[in-house]
Amino acid sequence: MNEELRVDVVRILRNLNKLGKIGRREGFNGVTRLALSEEDREARDLLVSWMEEGGLNVRVDPIGNIFGVRRGSNPNFKPVIMGSHIDTVIDAGIYDGAYGVLSALEILRRIDEEGIETQHPVGVAAFTNEEGVRFQPDMMGSLVKSGGYPLEKAYARKDDDGVTVKEALKGIGYLGRDDVKPEAYFELHVEQGPVLHKRGFEIGVVEGVQGIAWWRMAFRGEANHAGTTPLDMRKDAMAGAAELYTGLLEYVAKKGNALCTVGKLRLEPGAINVVPSLADFTIDYRSYDDAIFKEGKAEVERRAEEVAKRRGLTLDKEMTADAQPVHFRPEMVGLVEASARKRTYSTFRLPSGAGHDAQFMHVICPTAMIFVPSINGVSHSPGERSDAADLERGANVLFDCTLAKAGFKKEP
Ligand code: GLV
Ligand code: MN
Ligand code: MN
Repeated sequence: MNEELRVDVVRILRNLNKLGKIGRREGFNGVTRLALSEEDREARDLLVSWMEEGGLNVRVDPIGNIFGVRRGSNPNFKPVIMGSHIDTVIDAGIYDGAYGVLSALEILRRIDEEGIETQHPVGVAAFTNEEGVRFQPDMMGSLVKSGGYPLEKAYARKDDDGVTVKEALKGIGYLGRDDVKPEAYFELHVEQGPVLHKRGFEIGVVEGVQGIAWWRMAFRGEANHAGTTPLDMRKDAMAGAAELYTGLLEYVAKKGNALCTVGKLRLEPGAINVVPSLADFTIDYRSYDDAIFKEGKAEVERRAEEVAKRRGLTLDKEMTADAQPVHFRPEMVGLVEASARKRTYSTFRLPSGAGHDAQFMHVICPTAMIFVPSINGVSHSPGERSDAADLERGANVLFDCTLAKAGFKKEP
């Protein structure tokens, strides 16, 4: 399609490395920019400064999503948005989310440099709290934007220190009032899994995103002496959590096409010689299959209740996220595939195992995702890497898809 139009990957990498300096902590190799933290504010401020330098119209919505929009030739047309997020997990790599946002910024710059006039405005978005590490649910910005979660309910969500989303948004100066209604949404992302790298494909054509269910659970039992309390007289909260987790791991292994993770666990009183009275933990359950997703969610809750009852524990549970499996529209998936093939890049269709803002934007506008290989499939870790040539290919595909949706004229 636009063989001569290419991004400058050196500029993308330069910005990735600049952004990747924000959130470095002593004793860690990666970056930590938890949503709405001081580090997130610093990253947002840098992104906004780049948007302003690029002459974009910067808008911030009530949940803190940031948009930078370049005008189109038809003022009545809605913008085609490219985006992702710039918050991170704890000790993260520099590509997850930021690659999609900074590639979009590069494409807007290339559109200017090439004297391209698009019919639709074209813009870049950075969504609030994609990772969901500090505040749950995850993908909060796109979830609220898509109408899937009430704004006031999102504002009231608290972190472990009792700080609400609204207080944190205000605190960093990103409680906005604007609204941007997209014509279409494209998200470019590193795969974060091993498939493309191991199989030697250049571009991942993302067919959908698997469902994600999260819980915060607490088993409460009785603290007692580790040396004197017989096993059958214990109310051991940790034993309940361990039994539930291993049982769920067996369940998902047997089912196939499902995953389960306990990524956070806190015990009380937390002493070597005391039977734990409290196990406070999280559960992350995922499946791409609609039926298995639904069945598994019920299974998690059923097993938790059963374990608590049998072990004489009480159970507190709160479901903190429930994102259904998403299947992108075939014509949008086809556009990504055709764009990549036109550039003679090798392509492979796959679902996304990670959550993405695209899974909620899909609810309000035609949406597609493009993946590039992650070396050895490492992500949510400082070891996250992708080849520059792959990063360039992905951004070129995003460039083509965006122009195709926006409609454009290029000066000769
Ligand atoms: C987001 O990165 C997720 O998949 O948890
Ligand atoms: Mn991400
Ligand atoms: Mn992530």
